[in-house]
Amino acid sequence: MIDMTVNIGGRRLKNPVLVSSGTFGFGKEYSNFYDFNLLGAITVKGITLKPRKGNKPPRIMETSAGILNSVGLENPGLYSFIENELPFLKKYSVPIIANISGNTIEEYSLMAKELNEHVDFIELNVSCPNVKEGGITFGTKPESVYEVTREVRKVTNIPLIVKLSPNVTDIGEMALAAENAGADCISLINTLMGMAIDIYNRKPFFNNVVAGLSGPAVKPIALRMVWQVAQKVNIPIIGMGGISNWQDAIEFMMAGADAISIGTANFYNPLAPKEVLEGIKEYMIENGINDLREIKINGGVK
Ligand SMILES: Cc1cc2nc3c(=O)[nH]c(=O)nc-3n(C[C@H](O)[C@H](O)[C@H](O)COP(=O)(O)O)c2cc1C
Repeated sequence: MIDMTVNIGGRRLKNPVLVSSGTFGFGKEYSNFYDFNLLGAITVKGITLKPRKGNKPPRIMETSAGILNSVGLENPGLYSFIENELPFLKKYSVPIIANISGNTIEEYSLMAKELNEHVDFIELNVSCPNVKEGGITFGTKPESVYEVTREVRKVTNIPLIVKLSPNVTDIGEMALAAENAGADCISLINTLMGMAIDIYNRKPFFNNVVAGLSGPAVKPIALRMVWQVAQKVNIPIIGMGGISNWQDAIEFMMAGADAISIGTANFYNPLAPKEVLEGIKEYMIENGINDLREIKINGGVK
């Protein structure tokens, strides 16, 4: 018997393999590929208080080892999510992580309060690079990460995850601010700011000029940032950024992650989460590891 469970803020996940916000929609498109009950948890597309149409196309561009996206948080809004999207996911016995973005601290708090009895975890997205207001403006200063986390903490008693932006100088400082304000867990990384130029039109490819880079290209950066955060905080870490196979997942755990999340890989290999889970299990058996926690190196590999 091997133990693959992970404890996040007092809630137990059956295994450490999650799917990342914005790369799994609200689940429906992936439901024919495998049984969602296999997953540790599902993170839904980022939700805002009011519905958002998102950015004008183009929204995605393939790069040499990843994608740039400028989706701009298209979503049906909080109340439609609760009424129309959640019931489908609730048919499964898999914990749901609601990823939320606000324009103000009050909006974050209101959303967290409304979601409290409907989902299992709240993930504060303070790191979206593709919207003008909110999002990343909260995630680039430790004071505002602290403030938004502290205010949301007051209105919710379910585990609170704070998702950090890699577009900062000192990621450890942001993680510490979230932990000090009462976060139960840190997730990282969101996308890295990048850009592309259409050389025939002599214009930026995206209307917003900059876009978010994800996929295998960002993995070494994400791994380094997880390692840096692991040396700063004592709360659990969900590592993500370019994970596409089980070997990547093990690397993140050795850097200090308690769980891992699969994002862009879902687009080119919808079975990636299932394969990663099977790979971790096999690695544990082959190496005589009975408890997942033995893989994680506290404070990250030295
Ligand atoms: C198309 C797309 C949409 C995304 N939407 C969100 C979102 O709504 N909220 C969020 O916190 N992160 C969002 N992300 C970031 C991912 O959840 C993840 O943090 C990032 O892509 C890094 O992981 P990856 O390289 O495995 O994709 C999005 C990423 C992509 C590619």
